[in-house]
Amino acid sequence: MLEVKALNAFYGKSHILQGVEFNVHEGEIVSLLGRNGVGRSTTVKSIIGEVSPIGSIKFKGEEIAGRPSFDIANRGLGYVPENRDVFPTLTVKQNLMLGMKSVQRKSRWKMSEIFEMFPNLAERADVPGGVLSGGEQQMLSMCRTLMGDPEMIMIDEPTEGLAPKVVEQVSELLEEIASRGVAILLVEQKLKLALRISQRLYVMGHGRIVYEGTPASLKQADEIRSEWLEV
Ligand SMILES: Nc1ncnc2c1ncn2[C@@H]1O[C@H](COP(=O)(O)OP(=O)(O)OP(=O)(O)O)[C@@H](O)[C@H]1O
Ligand SMILES: [Mg+2]
Repeated sequence: MLEVKALNAFYGKSHILQGVEFNVHEGEIVSLLGRNGVGRSTTVKSIIGEVSPIGSIKFKGEEIAGRPSFDIANRGLGYVPENRDVFPTLTVKQNLMLGMKSVQRKSRWKMSEIFEMFPNLAERADVPGGVLSGGEQQMLSMCRTLMGDPEMIMIDEPTEGLAPKVVEQVSELLEEIASRGVAILLVEQKLKLALRISQRLYVMGHGRIVYEGTPASLKQADEIRSEWLEV
């Protein structure tokens, strides 16, 4: 589904990504782990075209490196950024509608269904997005991307700063997304959560992938965890 090879990226003269390689297969949940500042967000931003990528990024077999973000989204690759970019002055409903694509005919996600899953959002359908709690904004941000019916979604730190109960809600939504056949690339800090819901995990360190494995193998890999994950 997504195949990244020799991906490099710069901010000015800083060489941030130095040959990142990984892949995500259809319907898989894959986590990208790593300490603060190793380049996880830069990786997803390079894929979605917010940062200029150097290297190869194939989505459904087609090269998308350097294509405009809207084109990549239209091909079915959704993105939920780490800052949950809810439009604060638009209502919850308007935020969701903005996630739909003009070319779109049907979606595996209906607004009515999203409101059923998240009664909190339903109750606040006509309220400006900016007044929602952090957890509600995270849900809204994820649901807005789902309205565009992506075949794969990249989600940057969805549980950051959320209360345990809301983290649980986010993780249930992630599993619901995967159960509908949508592949997920999850950028996460919470190792426990990533181990629980992922089929495979990659660990990043200093701009490259330093480990690839399954939850079972990463649980055994004590040195990898202490060198690259634990603080
Ligand atoms: N717009 C920018 N301009 C210059 N440097 C940046 C910019 N964004 C990020 N960086 C730097 O690039 C490196 C990688 O940042 P990135 O945001 O990808 O890290 P990350 O792994 O997502 O970590 P975290 O989300 O915890 O900050 C960091 O050293 C960061 O300071
Ligand atoms: Mg980040």
